[in-house]
Parts: sequence; structure tokens; C-alpha cells
Amino acid sequence: CGIVGYIGGKDATPIILNGLRKLEYRGYDSAGIAVLDGDNKIELRRDAGKLDNLCNLVNREPISGNVGIGHTRWATHGEPSARNAHPHIGSTGRVVVVHNGIVENYQELQDELAAEGVEFNSDTDTETIVHLIERYITITGNLEEAVRKTLQQIRGAHGIVVLSADEPDKIIAARIGNAGGVVIGYGENEMFVASDIPAILEQTRKMSFLESRQMAVVTRKGVTVQTLDGKPITPAIQTINWDPIAAEKGEYRHFMQKEIHEQVRSLTDTLAGRVDFDKGLIQLPQLKLTAETARKINKIIITACGTAQHAGLVGKIYIEKIARIPVEVDIASEFRYRDPIIQPGTVVLSISQSGETADTLAAMEEGRQKGAILWSIVNAIGSQAMRVADGYISMQVGPEIGVASTKAFTAPLVDLYMLAVLLADLRGTLPVEQRKKLVNDLRMIPDLAGKCLEHEPEVMSIARDMKDARDALYLGRGINMPIAYEGALKLKEISYIHAEGYPAGEMKHGPIALIDKDMPVIALAPNDPWYEKMASQIEQAKARGGKVIAVATEGDKNVEHLADSCLWVPSIPWMLSPVLTVIPLQMLAYHIASIRGLDVDQPRNLAKSVTVE
Ligand code: G6P
Repeated sequence: CGIVGYIGGKDATPIILNGLRKLEYRGYDSAGIAVLDGDNKIELRRDAGKLDNLCNLVNREPISGNVGIGHTRWATHGEPSARNAHPHIGSTGRVVVVHNGIVENYQELQDELAAEGVEFNSDTDTETIVHLIERYITITGNLEEAVRKTLQQIRGAHGIVVLSADEPDKIIAARIGNAGGVVIGYGENEMFVASDIPAILEQTRKMSFLESRQMAVVTRKGVTVQTLDGKPITPAIQTINWDPIAAEKGEYRHFMQKEIHEQVRSLTDTLAGRVDFDKGLIQLPQLKLTAETARKINKIIITACGTAQHAGLVGKIYIEKIARIPVEVDIASEFRYRDPIIQPGTVVLSISQSGETADTLAAMEEGRQKGAILWSIVNAIGSQAMRVADGYISMQVGPEIGVASTKAFTAPLVDLYMLAVLLADLRGTLPVEQRKKLVNDLRMIPDLAGKCLEHEPEVMSIARDMKDARDALYLGRGINMPIAYEGALKLKEISYIHAEGYPAGEMKHGPIALIDKDMPVIALAPNDPWYEKMASQIEQAKARGGKVIAVATEGDKNVEHLADSCLWVPSIPWMLSPVLTVIPLQMLAYHIASIRGLDVDQPRNLAKSVTVE
């Protein structure tokens, strides 16, 4: 879900709606806004569905004031409807709350409040928060104290923002655990609050971030931050350099298409400052990795969710092959429930675009508790996964808006490759010539990514052929096996076509039964060490009447002859091939969904950043 708050001298309504627009990708089944009007009365507007519904409602029934909060919701408790949308208002009509997270003990609290005579107007867990605050305002007469007491009583992880008509010169924001971030934005006689940077980036570049169990009292003049136990904190104000224009769609129809095309730039930025091509060296200063630590590492466990986990599977091959360190890859939501074995010298490395995925953060916590060295590869600056790590690699891709991740997939592939080279180098196991060759191979990446994009017209024509498929099978082997997973994930996420990614060698143990003329088989057969095997897989699929679309290296006559059609990628050393082979599959999924007329950037039921377990 997304949060935006404003306090200042301007009209809060357009600022908040505009901020919500930038966050709509986070959750979008309902939205709402509350502002304090000139008479210090809280005006509330909420509606189900997309943000446009709320904007239309506000147009019909305008509200204005200098202080306000807003929210876009992705339902966890209670169906997406106007009454369940945030902000939630208390019984007195004087307090409103927006909230990310789940009140784990809400049933118990609801029973307690109901016994006191409180009436509930929604099916959400969030509503208990506003009633508790009201209860404590009655007892203490003080909003801050009431919020603090409430936060001490609710279990779970939360980001919340509170506004009271009786203390109209402040907004209170707080964070407990990992339910998403709370960002404070600094202006001239105005201040902003948000769950994510893009929401307020047009307004200010100066921002600070709340840590877990911190509460901020935000006024027009500034902010005071305390821990929930009342210890004062001096917030570290950072200047965020993201370009707000980069957060707009520009010439493209969808953010996803724009982000696919941005990969030439994001891959250039990924290398910039990290690779010294002359000396053949890699630098990842934010990882804070010394030779001593590198030598101590005996195992690396990569944890992540979704697309990021697929990047991890490629990373395993890089690190094992180049640095000869054993790597396990674990789905973050599974990791902490299997009592993983972590010994001194074990690294837990998380990969996350948002840096706020609850499962990934929980896996990091598990690693921390068991004494692992904690690393992360993260895009969102200032996110929790960046802050709690001992060292991190910052993806240099800028904001990613499309829910289906693209540029935040290829960047960590390169990051993991660089990490493998750096580890091997620091451990003294990489001969200089080999290191130079591995580093030098990176040079061509951005340019070759651009060459993949030039094939978009052919991809579109294959997309037209495939648009009515009901199922699709993606096959890959070795380093391109995770790309089969990723290609299938992209297709199902945005086109709603059922797709499965499979290790090609496993095809004969099951999926081969599914192959017929109606099920396209997408086979990853670039020039890599598994090429021959993949060529014979294609033959097997063809022998069963399957229709094969191959991802193949330009000029490969053999595969061109075997397959029904080809998605071409330029030739590249095999280890870097996944960075290229995924690009036609991103474009294929994009164009199929786009031809089907679907909402590519905001597919049903999905959210960009999943801050619930
Ligand atoms: C969500 C998104 C996926 C993403 C996953 C992990 O499920 O829909 O596209 O891969 O979260 O997100 P993260 O921000 O941790 O990379």
C-alpha cells in the first residue's frame, strides 16, 4: 500500500492525489484522502478501485485544506470497497489514520473495544488503531502519547500516519518493523510524509527515513523524531538524486515498456564507477568487503522473492563458478521456517528491488539472529534491506514503476557477476588474466542489450501469434534455466496466460505429456555450454507436434532450422548470456499483454512491493 501526507501552506488535496498517483503501483484496489478544512473539520473521501475513481469523487465533492493524508490500498483484511479504504476515521470524527501492515492481534483488540461500546464501520484491522488512539486521547488528553500507547499495544509490523482535528498543526508518523518505509520530506514551511520516495520527489529532494520503533511529529517547520520509548533521535537528512522525469512514462505506452528500454542506460549505470576496465578490477565500496572477510566466507545463502529470486539462481552459478564458494538459493518466505544452518562465515545475501518485501526482510532478520554476515542488493535507496545490511550493492536503475520487474532483474545479474569476480579476487583464487577477461566481457553488455531491443518488431509479430495461447512452457538449462522461470513469470504476471518455467532436462519427466500444437514451447538455446542439449530438446518437442519459439544467438542456422520461430540475441560470452536472453522474453510478455488490452503496469491482484507476509 502507499501513503502520502502533507502539512504546509498550500492546498493539500492535489499534492496528496499527485503523490498517490506515483504510488498507485504499490497497491490499487481502493484509495482515500482526508484533509483538515478551514474549520478544522476532517473531510474524508474514499472509493474502491483505481485512483481515478477517487479523483472523480474529489472532483464531484471537492475538499481542501493545508493538512491531509492519503492512501492507496492493497487489501489484506476486508474486501476492497469504499468502507474498507483508508483513511479510517474514529467515532468522534476527529482522528484519522492511514496504515500499512497487519494488526496481528486485531481480533482481540476489536473484542476489547467492542466491549467498551465502540462501533466498527469497516472490516479492516486498521480501524482498531484509530479507536485505540481515541481511547488513549480520552485518557491522556495528548495525541502523541495516545499514538505511542497504541503502538505499544498492536502486534505486527506497521507504518502509520495519524492526523487529529484537535491538534491541527501536526501529523504523526511511525514505523514498527518491516511493513514498508516511512519517508519524511523537508520543504520551506511545509513538510511531507510518504511510504516511498517517488510520492514526494516532485516536491522535495531532502528526505529522512524512520527506523523501526520510531515516531515522528511533523509540523510545518520541521520534524522531531523519538523512539517509542521517548529517546530523542536526530534524523539524518539525505539528498535524493533521482530524476522525477525518470518516474514518468515519457514516450512509451506503459512503464514496463519504458523500463525494458531503459536497460541500456541502467546497465551502463550499473557498471559506472564499479568497473575499472584498464586494470580489470571491480569495486563495490558499499559492500565494505575486505580480503579478510572474503577469505572467511564458507557459504553464501541468497534469499529473495519473485523475480529477484530468479536473479539469485543465476548468481549461484556466477559465485560458484568464479569464486568457488558454495551458494544456496532460497525463497525468502521459506528460509526462516526451515531452521537454516548458518555458521560463522556464512553470508545471507538478499536481493530486492523495493528493499521492503516483508518476507525478504524476515529472512534477513533470521540471518542476523543466527550470526550471518548480512548483505543486500537493493534498488530503493534508504529502504530497510539497505539499512539493516552490513554491506550492500545499490542497483543503479532508478525507480521501477511497472509491477512486473525488468530493469531491476538485469542489474542484479551484473551485480552478482561483479560480486563473484570481487570475491574471487580478494580470496586470491583468480588468476590475473582470467580476471581481466571476465571484467572486460562486461564492457559490451549495455550495447548488446540495445541490440536485443532492436528486435522488438519481430518479437511483436511472435506476440501476435501467441496472444491466444492458454498455456506456455519455457525451457532452459544451466545458466539460462532461471531465465525460463523468469520468462514464464513475466508472461503469467501480466498476460494471465498460464506459463511454466522448467529445467529442460526435466521435460521428459512430466511436462512432455502436455506438448501439442496448441502449447507454445519457448526454448532458451543461446550459444552456451548447454547448447547441444537444448537443440535436442527442441527436436524432442517438435517430434511431439509442439510449436517451438527459440531464443537463439544471431546467425544460428541450426536452431533457425529446428524451431518454428526465433527470438534473436547477439553473441556474448556464455556467463553473461542471461542478461540478454531475458530481454526478448520481457518484450514478448509485454506485447502479448498489451495486444490483449490488459493493464500491463498494474496487473490484477499483484503489488509492486509486498509488505505483508
Ligand atoms: C512482488 C512483485 C514481483 C517482485 C517481488 C519481489 O511480488 O510483484 O515482481 O519480484 O515482489 O520484490 P522485491 O521488491 O523484493 O524485489
